[in-house]
Amino acid sequence: MKFPSDFIWGTATSAYQTEGGNSNCEWWQWELNKKRGQKYPLEPSGIACDSYNKYDEDFDLCKQLNNNGVRISIEWARIEPQPGKFDQKELDHYKRVLSSAKQRGLKTFVTLHHFTNPLWFFKKGGWINPKAPWYFARYAKVCAKELGPLIDTFFTINEPQVYALMCYTIGKWPPNKIDPIKSLICQINFIRTHKKAYKAIKSVDNYTVGIVKNIVWYEAYGEKPRFLDTLVAKLMFYLNCDFFLKPIKKQLDVIGLNYYFTNQIKGLKAIHPAGMVSNLNWWINPEGLKEVLIHLKKYKMPIYITENGLADSEDRLRKVFIKSMLVACLSAIQQGTPLKGYFYWSLIDNFEWHEGYWPKFGLVAIDRKTLERKPRKSFYYYAEVCNNNEVIK
Ligand code: FCB
Repeated sequence: MKFPSDFIWGTATSAYQTEGGNSNCEWWQWELNKKRGQKYPLEPSGIACDSYNKYDEDFDLCKQLNNNGVRISIEWARIEPQPGKFDQKELDHYKRVLSSAKQRGLKTFVTLHHFTNPLWFFKKGGWINPKAPWYFARYAKVCAKELGPLIDTFFTINEPQVYALMCYTIGKWPPNKIDPIKSLICQINFIRTHKKAYKAIKSVDNYTVGIVKNIVWYEAYGEKPRFLDTLVAKLMFYLNCDFFLKPIKKQLDVIGLNYYFTNQIKGLKAIHPAGMVSNLNWWINPEGLKEVLIHLKKYKMPIYITENGLADSEDRLRKVFIKSMLVACLSAIQQGTPLKGYFYWSLIDNFEWHEGYWPKFGLVAIDRKTLERKPRKSFYYYAEVCNNNEVIK
């Protein structure tokens, strides 16, 4: 049950969800200007976890977890508040944040874009604008120059296809469009963006660069699945995985995988079967993680699980969840998958996008009034796993 000796153990968070006060993003505006009858977002992000100020405290928790790595993101809107005008104060802030992680023996895995955008970029059409890759590469290059020496692995974009889906296919996130063509343009722009940003970062130094891809495992329902369901499951998985990863294969040093659930296809529709589910009704299926990992073997590069976790306000299933996912990881490793690390989502409860603060993903609970951090029971379980480098019963 042992993991490789150089395995990276960590947790993941993102800037907008934890820092607080990111008023220069389109999300902030969307939260403030809720129209009558508009359901989402359920509440504004506000001060979030105040991690903009409390990052030392957060990294102390990572240390208590016996972690040797951490995944965070930096906020583009802070670093480039106006097009082409970079804010040295904010760059210096992130230097302090990253140094604080380093001082605690944490390797830094840094995402440059985790869903939110500077307002000016959003107003120019955001990810639909053909110039989006160019704008983003300019920002990525500044990050590499200024912060590169403090970053162990760069991730350009977090879950590009989830972004396209939420913003342009189902329209739940700003700009709230339901437009399949725009959704496709957005995805293609992300592919172009990754390639350009990869080049921009590499032009500064030979840094390690990857992307963070959410991959859902799809399978056909039933013991004797229908032929058409099997076909749809294969197609959905392809669109969710190779469709995006293949075109950028040459511009990837590592793959970041976010795995949360499996969808079954029944009568040509995606369903979450009954069974163990999270508070968000996501089906807990470690087998799906194993399947995805084994599929990714063919890319022949290091893989990190950059997010895996569940909303579980009572901390009832979290320990079993972590344990069973890690068993799946081990079995994928045994079958030759170059899995190099695991980041649990999330270190602390945080702003779960349109849902607000009710879904509790944290190993650490946050008192919403005092912002006091209180480790849950599963925190101590994960700490032991990380310390022993093995799955503990
Ligand atoms: C992922 C996001 C992350 C968080 C988790 C629960 O899709 O990357 O920000 O919201 O889901």
